[in-house]
Amino acid sequence: MELLKQRILEVGVVVSDQVLKLDAILNHQVDPVLIMEMGKEFARLFRETKPDKVLTVESSGIPIAYTTALHLEVPMVFARRKKTLTMDQDTYSERVPSFTKGIVTDIMVSSHLLHKGERILLIDDFIANGDAARGLIRIIEKAEAELVGVGIAVEKSFQAGGSSIRERGIRVESLARISSLANGQITFN
Ligand code: G4P
Ligand code: NA
Ligand code: NA
Repeated sequence: MELLKQRILEVGVVVSDQVLKLDAILNHQVDPVLIMEMGKEFARLFRETKPDKVLTVESSGIPIAYTTALHLEVPMVFARRKKTLTMDQDTYSERVPSFTKGIVTDIMVSSHLLHKGERILLIDDFIANGDAARGLIRIIEKAEAELVGVGIAVEKSFQAGGSSIRERGIRVESLARISSLANGQITFN
């Protein structure tokens, strides 16, 4: 998506060879016009898969998942992060490691919000190692819902997350793919 790539080049801050800061548009401040266009593009890409629902995880996935769901005219669910180890009986929860943060977090979705056979489109802002996406996929599997595809705003293709999910035969669409952040340079592929 050219508009997103252009905005990334304008406002992106290369924090390290691994991490790109997009606090001006996605992760802290939100650019609503851009996010609306991104949702429109995800809706265009995935409409044919007939999603019943869009799923993401708080917090930065929410705006993009919301505009995607708005364009598809379906509900959006965001997995919550829980700090306690005790979960309600009626939730699907998964433990997700974060290599960049060096911590483990729990994500959970109320079982009332994911139904057997429901067609789920997964949306997230970044994919790095793919742990968050794989955690959400395990939740979808637990609910016996059906994953129709994964939409990622920014895929860092030098990390394994996107390819690890594609290897399972799952359709992954990224709006911007970054092949390198070396030497402070943002390189797309
Ligand atoms: P993974 O899920 O793909 O394995 O990624 P990882 O654990 O490394 O990422 C942990 C958090 O960092 C996630 O946000 C993810 O979206 C974000 N992240 C990963 N790489 C980048 C990057 O290069 N730039 C930015 N800005 N974020 C990145 P989170 O913990 O879910 O936080 P939130 O922002 O959704 O609240
Ligand atoms: Na994030
Ligand atoms: Na995220």
